[in-house]
Formats: sequence, structure tokens, C-alpha cells
Amino acid sequence: MSRSDTDLNLYVADKIRKSLSRLAQDKGQEIDLDMVALVPPKDETLGDLGLACFPFAKALRMNPVQLCAELAEAMSTDEVIERVQSTGPFLNVRLARTALARITIEGVLEDRAPFGAFEANGQKVVIDFSSPNIAKPFHLGHLRSTVIGAALRRLYLHTGHEVHGINHLGDWGAQFGKIIVAWREWGDEEALQANPMRHLFEIYVRYGQESKERPELDEQASLAFQNLETGEDNEERALWEKLRNISLEAFQGPYGRLGVEFDHVTGESFYEDRMEATIEAIEAEGIATMSDGALVVDLSAEGLPPCILRKSDGTTIYATRDLAALFYRRDTYAFDRALYVVGQEQKLHFRQLKLVLEKLGWPQADRVEHVDFGLILFWHEDEKKWKKGTTRGGNAIFLDEVLDEAVSGVRRIIEDKNPDLTDKEAIAEMVGVSAIVFNDLKNERIKDVKFDWDRMLSFEGETGPYVQYAGARLSSILRKAGLDGAGKDIPDDVDYSTLADADKVLLVMQEFGPTLQRAVDKNEPSLLTSLMIRLASSIHSYLREHHVLSAEEPVRSSRLALVAAARRLLEKGLAILGVASPQEM
Ligand code: ARG
Repeated sequence: MSRSDTDLNLYVADKIRKSLSRLAQDKGQEIDLDMVALVPPKDETLGDLGLACFPFAKALRMNPVQLCAELAEAMSTDEVIERVQSTGPFLNVRLARTALARITIEGVLEDRAPFGAFEANGQKVVIDFSSPNIAKPFHLGHLRSTVIGAALRRLYLHTGHEVHGINHLGDWGAQFGKIIVAWREWGDEEALQANPMRHLFEIYVRYGQESKERPELDEQASLAFQNLETGEDNEERALWEKLRNISLEAFQGPYGRLGVEFDHVTGESFYEDRMEATIEAIEAEGIATMSDGALVVDLSAEGLPPCILRKSDGTTIYATRDLAALFYRRDTYAFDRALYVVGQEQKLHFRQLKLVLEKLGWPQADRVEHVDFGLILFWHEDEKKWKKGTTRGGNAIFLDEVLDEAVSGVRRIIEDKNPDLTDKEAIAEMVGVSAIVFNDLKNERIKDVKFDWDRMLSFEGETGPYVQYAGARLSSILRKAGLDGAGKDIPDDVDYSTLADADKVLLVMQEFGPTLQRAVDKNEPSLLTSLMIRLASSIHSYLREHHVLSAEEPVRSSRLALVAAARRLLEKGLAILGVASPQEM
């Protein structure tokens, strides 16, 4: 079985490609069959899948209307394709309703691609995401990177890639000199154990304030980092290790709640003894020069500041470690694509890295992609506008506290709407955490995200809770019929010909495969989020117009099969996004 047996968009596209290539052959021409991309026609009475014939007509030097008519003529109908029609320069295909129902429902319930994982495609993708800094505050950009990166990791996994999700922890660099000095001055063992992130944040902030009046602190900090970089087993190293371990452990809590997984946690310090070799390799290519005592790759011809490899005081910087990481990732994972899910304020940094790779003649250079994203905005009541940064000042957040706030918001809503719910606590956790994830992945990643608690937690509109509620509704129907609430049981005696009136839901389900493909091509999880919103709303409309439990057989069993498949697909799509599917809410 191949994916095109289950993904009807692919099935029809394959058939059109065959007819097109035969037509082209007859005319002694060649055309690019990859251009065949089907989308639902604007007027749904025309059909379910449509193709604009212009580009092919151009390649074949034909009139598009004429080509379209010939193509419609050449295509045969079958069990799946009920009708092929040309409307001017557009080719429209209508799918046979019984086949649509059978193929979609069986495909989902049997977990076949595209609903289940795609066949391995041999493509290797490295995704660098989350990557917070230890000893510096976690900020909203890290939250977005974590949520978007984790969704991309699952999208690539589902679509058959070999994926290496990497947490490039900021556990090295000059800020460690500062945090070491701050710890010596104001560190408190008890406070550290109680809440490591908060304590490190507080002493880091204090360092920032006091070093303005006490410049000797900066001297001490730079000395401390130099001592750390010697690689010797000294006091600085012991302290660094202790702070690193305790922070890393503290991150596990929120990562677990968000369902975020990494394949590798290789922070900047991992490259400590790989940096010299990297610098040497770059020097060997003859692209490194000295500038003001620093070793750099000059990028003035490209109109950019130089990429620094080693500063004049002999220490390395963020960029040095990123280059070492690129060498390591190329040698270890042989990646085809490398994605960096990092905020747009680092645009320059990634442009510099790419240019260095180009100068080194790396063939992968143009497949190193900076996947950036917009800001998180908060409502500032005093100024009556949406602005960057929290109202408490700054961009720093404590991830656990944000998640807790969402969960308590949902807890209040549940108390109000459905106080008899069993397992309220677990459901509030699932819905609250998911609401934040959903809100982040709802719009194109490059757009800014409004952090609006009321909207985010609402059970209506385009929200996580709204989509989850559609799933819970389906689960409840299944349970009442004595079936598994997650849609795992398949009723016997399904007669697919009775499901013609479910075509709207089924057609949305059929968009799953093409949507995943586009989401991966564009690194855009929001395409899947939109599809899940449409699936939820088509389910709600269907259930408004059709009774399931009180229907006569064989309609009842067939509708139950549809409900089970919709429930399963909703759960699958949401899981890829990082959103849970409670069975009740
Ligand atoms: N730690 C960095 C920061 O917080 C992000 C790291 C992104 N990844 C990378 N390979 N540069 O700004």
C-alpha cells in the first residue's frame, strides 16, 4: 500500500500526472509534473479537487481552455473518481462519496499514511530549538522557540524524516563569569535549592545593577570566565557544573508538562574542546583574518560586520560555538537540512553563519535555515495598547508560573461550567497547558502573538479548548455506544454508502496529508492548527444536523465509525502540535 491509496489528493494528482505526461508525449513536449498541485475549487459544487491548467498550457504552447478540455477527456473515472470536468481553464474532480468515506475512515482507523507515519524518506533534519540560557533568564522568545520547535520536530518525524531535535543550551560564555561573581557575592544555597531559576535570575539582575557602580565586578567576571575556559579542574569549573546541573534539572519540569522532547541536549559547553579544531579548519581555508587583535571572517564585501572566531583576549564567543556545532552536526548526523528555531533578533547572526559556510564551500549552506518568529505581546492597560514585554517589566518569565496561571484559569472555568467533572485537576492541567501551546501555533509563526488570557482560555472561537471540546464531544458519543472513547474500537457492519452526508467532515480529514506536507515545506505548524480548527467546526456542524446514537442501523454503526475516525484524527493532529486530547471536559 502506498500513501496515494489513502491520500486522495495524491491519488488524483498521480492520475492527472499520468494523463498530462501522455498528452505532452503526444505533442513531443516536456513538462514539469511537480507543478501539479490540487486545491479545492472555490465553488464547491464544481468538485472537490481542482487544478489550474495555465502553467501546463504555457509549457505545451496550448490554449489553457483547450488543454483542460483534452485533459478532462483523457482522464477516466473509477471507483474513487466520480467525475472529471473542465470549467474553462480549470480541471475539477469530484470524488465518489462511498470511496471517500471508506478510504478515509479505514485509513485513519488503521493508522495508514498520511494519517499514520509516512514511510521513511531518508532525509535527515537537525532542529535546534528551545536552547535557553542557564544563568540568564528564560524569556518569552524561548517559550515560542520551545513550542514551535517541538511541533516541527513531531511534524518532521510524522512525515518520514530522520530527526535530531537539539537543545543547544546556553551553558557557556561570558555570562558565566558574571554569574560566578554574582554567586560569590550574593549566592544563597537555600534559595538556590528552593527555586534555582528564580534565584539565579535575581542575582544576575543584581549583578547588572551593581556592576554599574562597581566596575571591578566586570574585571572579576572576565577573569572568572577565562579561568573557566582554561578547562582546568578549578573552583570556577566546580561552580559552573553545579549551577548548570541544577538549572537543567529545573527545566525538566516545564518541558515535561509541555510534552517537549529532545533527541540531544548538547549545549554550548559541549563544544568547548572542539572549538580549536573548528577555528583551525576555517583558517586552513584561508578565510580567517586578524582585525583589532581578534580573529575573524571578514564579511565586509557582503555588507555585514565580521564573524568573530576568537576575541582579542583569547576567548571564544557564541558564533564560534555555533560554527563548532555546525561542523559537529555535519560530521555526526550528515544533515540534509538544519533548522534554527530562534527569534528574529538573531537574524544577523544566522546570516553571518551561513555566509561563513558558503565561503567554506559547504554544499549544505543553503539548507541551513533560520526559522524565526514574531514577538509575544501583552496588553498594557496604562497605555491601552499591545506591547512587547510583560506588564511586570521586561521579557523574563518563569515557565512554570505561566503554565500554572493558565491551569488555574481553566480550573475556575471548569468549576463554573462543569463542577461535577471527574478528574478535574488532570483535565485543567491538559487544557491549561495546551491553551498556551495552541495560542502560539494558531497564526503564522512570523506574526506576533497576543498573550490574552481570556481569549486563550475561552471555550469558544479559535482556541485550544474549543478544539479539545470537539474531541471530548466525540469521545462521549463513543462511550455512550459502549465503544472506546479514544476511537480505538471499530464498529462492525459499517456501510460506507450511508455516509454521503458526512462528506464535508471527510473532505477536511482528507486535507491532513497535503497540510502536513505544506507545513513541513514551509516550517509552518500553524497550517495544521488551522486544519484542526476546521475539523472541529465541521464536526460540530455535522453533529448539529445528524443524530448518531438514535439512528437506525446500518446508519448508526457507520456514523459511529465516522465519529471514531474523526476523534482519532483530531487527537493525532493535536498531538503533533503538542496539544492534549482529554476525553471529557
Ligand atoms: N541560547 C540562545 C539564546 O537564548 C539561543 C540559541 C539558539 N541556537 C543556536 N544554535 N544559536 O539567545
